[in-house]
Amino acid sequence: MSSKYLCLLLSAGILLKPFSAEKRNDNSDPETNDRRGKQFSFFQVIQFPNEACNGTGTGSGTCYTGQECTTRNGASIGPCANGFGVCCAFSISCGGTSAENLTVFTDANIPTGMGDCTVRICPANDNICQLRLDFDRFQISGPSTITTSVTQIQNGQAGALGTENSEVSQCNMDRFEVSSGSGVRPPIICGLNTGQHVFVDADSVCNALSFQFGPTTTMRTFQIRVTQYACDSPNLAPSGCTQFFTNPSGTVQTFNFGNGHLADQNQVMCVRQTQNSCRICWTTAMAIDFDVSGSATSGIGGGVGPTLSGVTSCCAPNTAGNNLQGLDCLSLPLAENAAGTANARSRFCGRKAGLSSVAVINLTICSRSSPFRAVFRSNGFEVTDSVVTPVLATSESTNKDNGVKLIYFQDSVN
Ligand SMILES: *[C@@H]1O[C@H](CO)[C@@H](O)[C@H](O)[C@H]1NC(C)=O
Ligand SMILES: *[C@@H]1O[C@H](CO)[C@@H](O)[C@H](O)[C@H]1NC(C)=O
Ligand SMILES: *[C@@H]1O[C@H](CO)[C@@H](O)[C@H](O)[C@H]1NC(C)=O
Repeated sequence: MSSKYLCLLLSAGILLKPFSAEKRNDNSDPETNDRRGKQFSFFQVIQFPNEACNGTGTGSGTCYTGQECTTRNGASIGPCANGFGVCCAFSISCGGTSAENLTVFTDANIPTGMGDCTVRICPANDNICQLRLDFDRFQISGPSTITTSVTQIQNGQAGALGTENSEVSQCNMDRFEVSSGSGVRPPIICGLNTGQHVFVDADSVCNALSFQFGPTTTMRTFQIRVTQYACDSPNLAPSGCTQFFTNPSGTVQTFNFGNGHLADQNQVMCVRQTQNSCRICWTTAMAIDFDVSGSATSGIGGGVGPTLSGVTSCCAPNTAGNNLQGLDCLSLPLAENAAGTANARSRFCGRKAGLSSVAVINLTICSRSSPFRAVFRSNGFEVTDSVVTPVLATSESTNKDNGVKLIYFQDSVN
């Protein structure tokens, strides 16, 4: 961080003292000389770095002088640097630009109908590598629920042959996206994502944070806190991670969890490896916490694999190039079971049966692959099965798959 410094002219009392000291000048006495050195300054220099600070209330900001804070269009939210500075908070809304750490992007002037709302976050200095966006509040329209078939997909590509698909799960009404220059960028999201966060590589120019709003009356509300991390920060996420969870144990979930997972995701949920832990283990609290493609009720993850329509693994087309269960899955690289032996599959899909083999709903799956991570992948469409009349009740599109919510813990024993 480039530190700026503050010169403060202290009270007249201090100013007067050096003059009286001057009269007692005695170079032979080192103690007096030293004392004189301290006193003989017209200016008392108070230096403090422009570090992150907390306000007296809930917000956070950067420590600046009162005047600098005003010049930079910030707002003082409390004292810092022993009262010599103010904790200066920055907030922007649609159309705004900020190069300040901990800037808050608010919904202060969003359009009520169709329109967009974009802000630009520029590096606070020339050594910024990542941005962390915390969704303190995030609610916009959810994904499409239109189940009529709009295209046919074969081998993941739209084409004349193949499986009938609908636009269910696509963020067609409202959407949020982040630009990142040439770096890895988070997937486009919509729906309810309060409490979630994403990391993005900092663009050397600026990153655009952009909402596009469709013609809807759904309540929209958001507050996004943007933290800038220097290239040597201990808080950087490992490269390629969409998210980085630093608690030794906790929960992770897919975007818009519980209200339908989203299309076109590649959500890489990474967890910081604690000292002494050699693997991470994942499980589900409830059967409905794992709900990704597949037939209506069967648990088909956990190494068993889908058995319908000749599909033998998740996130892979069947031999005909189709996949009547969709092409969405959770990937746990180099999966092993709790006892430490290799699991037959590293990709999991299926519905409402936990992270499961058919027999064991509350299966625990572990992995030693680093960085510790679970990856949710989804394609652009949900299978409609309209080839069959009526549309199968088991099809992806009619089931609004919740997505995935996982409990994780780290293990130093196995
Ligand atoms: C601000 O408060 C948070 C949460 O209480 C704390 O983790 C953080 O260390 C504080 N930051 C500073 C600069 O004091
Ligand atoms: C931004 O603030 C966070 C505290 O929330 C701090 O960890 C980080 O180092 C700050 N970034 C810069 C570039 O000062
Ligand atoms: C699964 O395991 C978790 C954690 O041990 C526990 O809280 C939960 O009740 C279990 N759920 C089921 C369905 O057995």
